Amino acid sequence: MTTSLTILGIESSCDDTAAAVVRGAPGAAQVLSSVVAGQTDLHAPFGGVVPEIAARAHAEKLDLCVIQALDQAGLALADVDAIAVTSGPGLIGGVLSGVMCAKGLSAGSGKPLIGVNHLAGHALTPRLTDGMAYPYLMLLVSGGHCQFLLVRGHGDFTRLGGTIDDAPGEAFDKVARLLALPQPGGPSVETEAQNGDPERFLFPRPLLDRPGCDLSFSGLKTAVLRTRDQIIAEHGGIPRQDRSDICAGFQAAVGDVLAEKTRRALAVLRDETDGPLTLAVAGGVAANQSLRQALLAVCNENDARFTAPPLALCTDNGAMIAYAGLEKFAAGERDDTSLIARPRWPLDQTSPSLIGSGKKGAKA
Ligand code: KG4
Ligand code: ZN
Repeated sequence: MTTSLTILGIESSCDDTAAAVVRGAPGAAQVLSSVVAGQTDLHAPFGGVVPEIAARAHAEKLDLCVIQALDQAGLALADVDAIAVTSGPGLIGGVLSGVMCAKGLSAGSGKPLIGVNHLAGHALTPRLTDGMAYPYLMLLVSGGHCQFLLVRGHGDFTRLGGTIDDAPGEAFDKVARLLALPQPGGPSVETEAQNGDPERFLFPRPLLDRPGCDLSFSGLKTAVLRTRDQIIAEHGGIPRQDRSDICAGFQAAVGDVLAEKTRRALAVLRDETDGPLTLAVAGGVAANQSLRQALLAVCNENDARFTAPPLALCTDNGAMIAYAGLEKFAAGERDDTSLIARPRWPLDQTSPSLIGSGKKGAKA
């Protein structure tokens, strides 16, 4: 019988301070509590995440989030088996704040410390939410991440491809800014696109002409800028219908690119396994219904299962870190006070570094 483990997870690599408690065994765990303190308002006036502001806000909120997470789980620190913390990759000030907090808690309580890769947290979430069996394909799409990962085990990841410039969430946010729509841009562009014609403006589908699963979104952003400027030059502003058509055209281009790259990534997974094929998505962009439909269609074509964790566990949170820590702890992996914070930490050490870094800092 597998022992049930109780793990406290701490996350502070970007602009969410989070703590959570997860209990169970690998592939069979549940979230006892999950507390997330966002920083959107603090960064809003600057149009992006300001690393120093983020680090300071994490330092102020971390202990409160940990106290709340333990309270909501009805536990004391003495009741947990180990403390897991994001030790990279991410904005270094934030990661350091979390690592120092976890080291202090570990030293004070005598509980073991486990450093977790933030991307592993995202990539293992389907194991927490659906008990997903290895191997599976994970597509991470957010404001800071964009990559296809073949997940074979809690420490066995192959990156099949990723963005060579911006993350898709950044592109959604930029397009919204160009069209004077509110931030975060993803939901605004999606809503606006509902009344638009996706075929009126045929935006480029970057990198489809090249083999492999790498992606690019910055050229698409520039194409939207050019179209907008042309419309403004002709009309002195952007008519409502034109704005909707641009949003629909942009969203369709992102959908086509993600769909084709997913098709290729599923072909790699098919070569890997005789078992069922599964695609899991995570990240804020995975909330987009039209992108989900595009991915679902590719999965149906390929007899693959499509799954997306609930949004609260798709975006940055402490439960995914606690769960990834649980898998490491169950495998006998431990860290100590020599644990360091790492701004860069690719999950797949054998793949070349990605060129793009995303607005929220270098990821891998
Ligand atoms: O995962 P997330 O909450 O934070 C990180 O980036 O780590 O993702 C936020 C990103 C933002 O860029 C936001 O515009 C995008 O996800 N997003 C969406 C939608 N909802 C959020 N993009 C497209 N469609 C959406 N419905
Ligand atoms: Zn993340």
